[in-house]
Amino acid sequence: MLSTALTLAAPGAGRAQDLGPGAKSADEQAARLEGQLTLDERLGLTHGVMALPLLPGFVMPPAAIPGAGFVAGVPRLNIPPLWETDASLGVAWIGGRRGDGATALPSGLATASTWNPGQARAGGAMIAREARSKGFNVLLAGGVDLARDPRNGRNFEYMGEDPLLAGVLTGEAIEGIQSEHVISTVKHFAFNDLETGRDFHNAVIGEAAARESDLLAFEIAIERGRPGAVMCAYNRVNGPWACESRALLTSTLKQDWSYPGWVMSDWGAVHGLQSALAGLDQQSGSQLDDKVWFDAPLRAAVANDPADASRLSDMDRRILRSMIQVGVIDHPPVKGAIDAVADEAVARGVAERGIVLLLNRNGLLPLARSVGRIAVIGGHADLGVISGGGSSQVAPAGGPALSLPMGGEGLAATFDLAMYQPSSPLKAIRALAPAAKVTYDNGIYPSAAAELARRSDVAIVFATQWQGEGMDVPDLSLPEGQDALIAAVAAANPNTIVVLETGGPVAMPWLDQVGAAVEAWYPGARGGEAIAGVLFGDVNPSGRLPITFPADVDQLPRPAISAAGLRDDASIGPRRETPPAYDVDYTIEGSDVGYRWFARKGLKPLFPFGYGLSYSRFSYGDLKVGGGKTVTVSFTVKNVGSRPGADTAQVYLTSGAGDGQQRLLGWSKLDLRPGEEKTATVVADPRLLADWDSAAHGWRIAGGVYQIFVGASAADRALVGSALVAPGQLRP
Ligand code: BGC
Repeated sequence: MLSTALTLAAPGAGRAQDLGPGAKSADEQAARLEGQLTLDERLGLTHGVMALPLLPGFVMPPAAIPGAGFVAGVPRLNIPPLWETDASLGVAWIGGRRGDGATALPSGLATASTWNPGQARAGGAMIAREARSKGFNVLLAGGVDLARDPRNGRNFEYMGEDPLLAGVLTGEAIEGIQSEHVISTVKHFAFNDLETGRDFHNAVIGEAAARESDLLAFEIAIERGRPGAVMCAYNRVNGPWACESRALLTSTLKQDWSYPGWVMSDWGAVHGLQSALAGLDQQSGSQLDDKVWFDAPLRAAVANDPADASRLSDMDRRILRSMIQVGVIDHPPVKGAIDAVADEAVARGVAERGIVLLLNRNGLLPLARSVGRIAVIGGHADLGVISGGGSSQVAPAGGPALSLPMGGEGLAATFDLAMYQPSSPLKAIRALAPAAKVTYDNGIYPSAAAELARRSDVAIVFATQWQGEGMDVPDLSLPEGQDALIAAVAAANPNTIVVLETGGPVAMPWLDQVGAAVEAWYPGARGGEAIAGVLFGDVNPSGRLPITFPADVDQLPRPAISAAGLRDDASIGPRRETPPAYDVDYTIEGSDVGYRWFARKGLKPLFPFGYGLSYSRFSYGDLKVGGGKTVTVSFTVKNVGSRPGADTAQVYLTSGAGDGQQRLLGWSKLDLRPGEEKTATVVADPRLLADWDSAAHGWRIAGGVYQIFVGASAADRALVGSALVAPGQLRP
């Protein structure tokens, strides 16, 4: 009987509304299934383990696959276990399945730089296919914490600083993952915007600012992607831990947003049973917490209080509902080989469209294939491209080209690796310029590198910045003396091109001396080829920055990170001690994250949000702005260059009803042949015109004249216009 109901569940995209006529909704099926569970089974679904034999005495459950997490199923009712793996950038290996490689996508910031929902979706579907073929049915993906600080050590996993861009692209990635019948999370809910002290710092932010920034990114990602699960964060938010915040988990997520899925904790983020009553549905990686709170303590609570018993039913229904909705019951994972060629093509596509051309003096790029002598310097470019450390790190089949331990003690050391994907930029450059004399210098001695540059027609310096989970970077400099290396090479040869493989923004004290600069982020499994393609013009760069590059840390809301240097190893192993909480004051910038802060303060960044050059040029015209309930903006985009290329025209609000503030309202990414012109139309999500009204508990649009501009970045007011907007109220 049960399996009939389940077979009806969720064909195709596995969504509840895809059920055929007469079929029971995922909610109804989940309720019926939950009604058949014994108390042991009910409790069993609400907690899992970290499926890695890292801690003494831990016995791997026989059905577990080494990976991030495992939650036992209920075989008698055909409910499969949850086999959970990280993450947004590919199927991570985190040391548990040595040799079982996967395809690394470029970093989240690279995906965000494409400003292309289809690219995000394709990347999500690719990692989900690989996850399924390794036996997993849950991806701990969907990282959408906003880049409030360019030094946050996990920015590279996320989608940048703007709630609309980050929300849309994360939602699409989730949609791609779940289209393959793999449940995706969205994480880390919420305000895990710094790694320093993440296990105990308290993010302080006002209600309106919270709703208009990070929470809006989550809201949009959840609406678009409908993830089966939400992962709550390590840190505290306005007092309580995120994983026991009733305000976040129950009032906002489940009540205001009507979220029907389940909330799982981050690994080692549960501090007591009170989290269940606050809205947490599942304790993940429970051996990392002080107790398996959702086992014996929850059993005792349920025996004593009917309210706790009904909470337990709700927890289970939510888990089962997502399993049914996404189709993990009807479409179990099938183990097999990954299609590396196809999957690497997806990763390469993201890298090619996510690379951002920052500077191109006198048309130095693209390089002619006839260039005679090329110096390639530094960054281990002879071997591969760097990736970020932590739970999201993906090891390629055949192993990394290079894996450098980066320190860290105890369990953290397992995750602190600068791993290089075996996609050598040097080899790719040689392949595209077979007649050139291409010489490599490791860049260890600036004087030797400069000498090679002097004897070359062009010098390409590869600069890397490793970042990893559990730590922030202390400043924006390139580590290991690379700024000095670039300056020395540029002094020797003005035709110096800097290729950055960084986790996030860096300062560029040498910018005035170099000929070109390219931000390649962590470019993934085929990053070397993607970089070479851009350098030689096989790929016309179209990436746009999803994060502001400050000129200096003094421009930031917090020039110094509180308690900088507090490396948070505790969350990766059992908590040794919980240092006292301290506040991180996000009320300084409030919802003015990134470019909005720069606009508010009138600061000029090194490179603005939305910025990126092309080998073509584009012009905008014929602006029309309509008002009413929202703002509708149309305009033309013309390729006035000589190469086909893609442009990302952006629409920003600059003031609403007399209230000056900059917000991205939308964008249009268009492929254009030389001379071709297209019309773009952007309709603003009314929430972006609104302010959060705490008293009315909803969005409020003040009536009046709204000023907008269209441009190629947050700092480019190419076309300006305005429209009359009607006053309005919107539900949360
Ligand atoms: C990270 C999560 C990850 C989990 C499981 C935690 O340390 O914060 O993003 O999904 O580990 O590996």
